[in-house]
Amino acid sequence: MSFQDFNFFGKKVLLRCDFNVPLDSQGKILDDFRLQRALSTIFFLRKAGAIIILISHLGEPQSIKNKRKRKKQLTLKPIGQRLSELLHEKVLFSKKNKGRFVRQMVKKMKPGEILLLENLRFDKGEEQNSLKFAKQLASLGDVFVNEAFSVCHRAHASIVALAKELPCLAGPELTKEFNFLSQILQNPPRPLVVLIGGNKTESKLKVIKEFLAMADYLLLAGETANTILSAKGLWPSHPLLPVEEIEMVKEINLTDQKIYLPLDVLASCDQSGQGIIRQTGPASVRRDEDIFDIGPETVNVYKEIIAQAQTVFWAGPLGLFEVEPFSHGTRDVALAIAKSRASLKLAGGGETVAALRKFNLTDNFSFISTGGGAMLDFLAGEKLPGLEALGLY
Ligand code: 3PG
Repeated sequence: MSFQDFNFFGKKVLLRCDFNVPLDSQGKILDDFRLQRALSTIFFLRKAGAIIILISHLGEPQSIKNKRKRKKQLTLKPIGQRLSELLHEKVLFSKKNKGRFVRQMVKKMKPGEILLLENLRFDKGEEQNSLKFAKQLASLGDVFVNEAFSVCHRAHASIVALAKELPCLAGPELTKEFNFLSQILQNPPRPLVVLIGGNKTESKLKVIKEFLAMADYLLLAGETANTILSAKGLWPSHPLLPVEEIEMVKEINLTDQKIYLPLDVLASCDQSGQGIIRQTGPASVRRDEDIFDIGPETVNVYKEIIAQAQTVFWAGPLGLFEVEPFSHGTRDVALAIAKSRASLKLAGGGETVAALRKFNLTDNFSFISTGGGAMLDFLAGEKLPGLEALGLY
C-alpha cells in the first residue's frame, strides 16, 4: 500500500526523519533545510489524524566518550523547538527514545499530536542495526514511515531492522528523491561532471571508482581530496592517516585523466581565518598548517570544466565555507555551476545545501537532494539498504 492510500486516522506513526542538521560550535542550528523538507509530511499526517512520533539521529554521539557532554551537545531538544516554530504547532519532546517513560507519553497522545524522541544514536543499538532496539521502537507505533532518504545508505536499526517489525511505508519526499535520482541515473546528458568535497571521507572514497567509470570528469576537494593528497605523498607534511584510509586510496588511480585534485590550496595555522593564510601547492604546506580551501588556480580549472558540463552532480563543500576567508572555493564553484549551461544540476548533503542557501543559489539547481553520502551511493549505482528494506528495488 502507498503512503497516500493508507488510513492513518488514530494510528501511531513512527516517522523516521533526518534531522541531522549542521550545528555551530555552540550547538546552534546553522541550516534547517532538512527540517523544512519534513514539514509537508508532518502536516499531512496531522490532518489525517495520526499520532506522530518523530525519530531521528543527530551527529555521531558515540564518538564523544563523555556521556554528559554527548547528551548536551547532540540532544534533539533544540530541533524540537525549531520544528515547533516552523510548524506553528506544539512539538512534545521525550528525553528518552525507548522504555516505559516514552510509552507513557505516547499513551496520552491524541490524534494530530506530535512527539519527538531523543537522538536515536544515543543508543548503541541504532548503529548496530540491533533487532532489540528496533523492537523497542516498534512497540511505540502501529506503522513505520521512512522519510529519511539521506540515511538510507546506513544499515541502522531505525532504517532497516524497524522496517521488518512494523508495516512500513516510503514517505512522499523519500519517494520523490528515489524517483528523481533513478530517472537521472538512466541516461544523464554528457559531459557529466562529478564534484566531491566535504568530510565523511570514508564514504566518499568508497564510490570514487564507480564515478571514475561513469563520469567524464571527477573533481575532488575538501577532506576527501586532502586525504588522497596525503595518502599519495602529495602533501608530505600531513600526519599519518588511518590504515583503512590509506588502503582505500591505494585503489584510486591518479593517472586516470578524468580525476582532478587541487593544484593549489589555502593553508593556515588558524582555522578561524584570523591568522596568516598562504596560497601554496599541497607539497609546500608546512607541518604547522592545515588546508582549509582550494586555491584560485584550482577554482579556475574547475570552473572551466564545469562550463562544458551538461550534467553536474555535487556533494560536499570545497573548503571551510562557514569561515569567510575560506569560503571562496565553495562560493566560486557553486556560482559557476549555477551559471553554467548544464541542463541537469544536482547538489546534495547537509553541508552543501547549507552552503547553497548561504550563497542564495538553491534556485539555480535542478534538484537538491537531502542526501550527501546517500545520494552519492545511489548515483554510483549501489543498492541502499534502507531502500531495499522498503521494497523499492
Ligand atoms: C547525512 O548527513 O549524510 C546523514 O544524516 C547520515 O549521517 P551519517 O553520515 O552520520 O550517517
